[in-house]
Amino acid sequence: MTRIDDLGYPIVVTSNAPAEIAAFSKEQGYRRVVVLCDRNVEAGARALAARLRGAAVLAFPLGERRKTMTTLTRVLNALASAGVERTTLILGVGGGVACDVFGFAAATYARGVPFAAVATSLVAMVDAAIGGKTGVNLSSGKNLAGVFRDPVAVFCDLPSLGRLHERWLREGLAEVVKHGIIEGGELFESLETLAPHPLRKWPWETVVADSIRVKAMVVADDRLERGAREVLNLGHTFGHAIERASRYRISHGHGLSIGLRAAGLLARRTGRFSRAEHLRVLSLLTLLRLPLVSPLSDARGIVRAMEHDKKRRNGRVRFVLPRALGDVEYGIDVPTRPVAAVLRAVSEPIHEREGR
Ligand SMILES: NC(=O)c1ccc[n+]([C@@H]2O[C@H](COP(=O)([O-])OP(=O)(O)OC[C@H]3O[C@@H](n4cnc5c(N)ncnc54)[C@H](O)[C@@H]3O)[C@@H](O)[C@H]2O)c1
Ligand SMILES: [Zn+2]
Repeated sequence: MTRIDDLGYPIVVTSNAPAEIAAFSKEQGYRRVVVLCDRNVEAGARALAARLRGAAVLAFPLGERRKTMTTLTRVLNALASAGVERTTLILGVGGGVACDVFGFAAATYARGVPFAAVATSLVAMVDAAIGGKTGVNLSSGKNLAGVFRDPVAVFCDLPSLGRLHERWLREGLAEVVKHGIIEGGELFESLETLAPHPLRKWPWETVVADSIRVKAMVVADDRLERGAREVLNLGHTFGHAIERASRYRISHGHGLSIGLRAAGLLARRTGRFSRAEHLRVLSLLTLLRLPLVSPLSDARGIVRAMEHDKKRRNGRVRFVLPRALGDVEYGIDVPTRPVAAVLRAVSEPIHEREGR
């Protein structure tokens, strides 16, 4: 078990979440526990509830398409039917969607009831459950409705990773690589060492905990995303635009991976980042079987999608770019021309002149 306390609530990375959660709930003196879960992890949630003096389990079909106000309303009504009070601990079990929807529901039900996330996907463990952002999608865009509210605890249930489809594991690895670039030292190097080995052999407790520490360190300095937290958007300005321009046929993790290549290239073009480090990032992503080539050829369409990005400030897109591994800069204004050139470059395979 590894415990991280940098954010003022315990983040527990463990192979025995039920025991850790039972101990936490007892120690904090909650009168009751209600378990909300993604239907795909219901069996595990029921096993967990059995350890918590028969806590009620409410399961919901989730997935990105159901990360909506409709689902939120259902969850809120279920909390009311279950007679949830301020002394009840809500456990939200599942991936990033579960963290976002259940966290949002707990933050708003009765103006806020205590919430602990039980993360079962890699994205949830290293990203969604950490930092207190919750929310749902609106038809006008992703994550447009939500609140900042810290959980009372986060539990990362490591055995769940063994049941997660490899596709989702790799989505999470893209975020871990992003954290590795921000950290630039031990985490990045350990990923380079591990990358050629099969995922089931990885020391997940260390990888997850080290990745969380990077996010926690950044979030601790900027809880409400006023500035410094922007570095976590590394690769995302390009990534989101590629996702959006593909009408979401390209997944978030794949968009991010291509976005990290694009950010590296734009950094090179604007006098940042060494070519050797850019190539190191590309080799790592390749070994992790993450894509680096955008199948979209319409660079202009992607630039337009970028201009839609809600992260733009004063009508201009601001970039997050690496100066070096371990040194990421944010709020950078770049003219459209090099951006479009980079987008054309990432629609081509990597060749000898990459990043020259
Ligand atoms: N709030 C934040 O700060 C933040 C940060 C990053 C991502 N997110 C959000 O997280 C979501 C993506 O998270 P995700 O990739 O975990 O998606 P997800 O929650 O949809 O999970 C992916 C799939 O795996 C299933 N699943 C989850 N855990 C499983 C397990 N242990 N075994 C078998 N199946 C399992 C889910 O049912 C789903 O089908 C996005 O909606 C994104 O916006 C939020
Ligand atoms: Zn992301």
